[in-house]
Amino acid sequence: MIVGLPKEIKNNENRVALTPGGVTELIKNGHTVYVQASAGNGSGFNDEEYKSAGATILPTIEEVYAIAEMIVKVKEPIESEYKLIKPNQLVFTYFHFASHEPLTKAMVESKAVCLAYETVEKKDRSLPLLVPMSEVAGRMAIQKGANYLEKPLGGRGILLGGVAGVAPAKVLVLGGGIVGTEAAKMAAGLGADVTIMDISLPRLRYLSDILPANVKTVMSNSYNIAQAIKSSNLIVGAVLIPGAKAPHLITRAMLKDMQPGTVLVDVAVDQGGCIETCKPTTHENPTFVIDGVVHYCVANMPGAVPYTSTLALTNATLPYVIKLANQGWLTACQNDEELRKGLNVINGNIVYKPVADAFNMSYSPVENYL
Ligand SMILES: NC(=O)c1ccc[n+]([C@@H]2O[C@H](COP(=O)([O-])OP(=O)(O)OC[C@H]3O[C@@H](n4cnc5c(N)ncnc54)[C@H](O)[C@@H]3O)[C@@H](O)[C@H]2O)c1
Repeated sequence: MIVGLPKEIKNNENRVALTPGGVTELIKNGHTVYVQASAGNGSGFNDEEYKSAGATILPTIEEVYAIAEMIVKVKEPIESEYKLIKPNQLVFTYFHFASHEPLTKAMVESKAVCLAYETVEKKDRSLPLLVPMSEVAGRMAIQKGANYLEKPLGGRGILLGGVAGVAPAKVLVLGGGIVGTEAAKMAAGLGADVTIMDISLPRLRYLSDILPANVKTVMSNSYNIAQAIKSSNLIVGAVLIPGAKAPHLITRAMLKDMQPGTVLVDVAVDQGGCIETCKPTTHENPTFVIDGVVHYCVANMPGAVPYTSTLALTNATLPYVIKLANQGWLTACQNDEELRKGLNVINGNIVYKPVADAFNMSYSPVENYL
């Protein structure tokens, strides 16, 4: 198959969908890979490395889209790319269709086959192509939080791990899923006094087994949260209710119960945030202060560490990319239920019901096309 790797052009997006290592694997499997010039620069991979791996470098994005049977990307296509996508072309990337009507309409009109990273789903209902970015964001939440706890950045001036004779900082993690677990691990590793809350007792049992002794597991409810925020120095929001807006576990009124210089990192901001006062911020301007409490609410945290994020993402996507290239999308999706769940649009038809429902567009079950 002819695989095309365009450079990401969305603002501040430095990730790339294939590393030179990924290109090597595709070439080994007998495929041809075209890479747009400088596609990997933002993640630290130059054109020479892609060439050595066996790819051909093309100077423009138009040439990559024109020649490829499968386009592998990171972010959803932006408007200038819509017209480059051809009928029957397979596009494998994050789409997040349900939040973007013009994109959905453009992809329907393109008559391409759109396979979305975010809806590839395993039997246990986990989302293998979302997990790596949650891992990155969870770990980063502590790195950022520790930083903003420094006095010159508005924080209380407390060192996360303390020192001999001085107690460490208290970290509260709301939500014990992927983000929360990674955050708790990082904070514990730095020596903080960590509490992690979740509404799932089985999950708390599991966390209590695997996390070190400086992490306490506590049931999430409004009483326990109200108590814990009074003494917490860093609070990480990591709650997710699939398909719904995050619940506001910390309200505006609760800020007055916190110590001045407390830092809130609301990772769940992309789902509306679990702290009422959070609103999305950017890496250029990541924080704001309300009632003396520092809010960090960057909606695309992994974007700041493109090297790690690219490797983490491509570790997860490459096996699917190879399968799609080896078998073609039709056979691959007939044989593999995980990939089949990723199909959102096929040749002008929406085959993923929540996307059709989001915009009152017509829906046609995926089985009709397999
Ligand atoms: N800002 C970013 O850059 C970024 C990056 C990656 C992920 N995220 C977001 O982070 C959030 C968490 O993602 P995840 O992968 O960890 O999800 P996950 O599904 O693995 O975990 C969510 C956890 O929240 C728990 N939960 C639900 N309601 C709760 C409540 N009331 N109190 C306490 N816990 C509750 C669930 O039981 C679950 O364990 C999502 O909104 C995700 O989109 C943001």
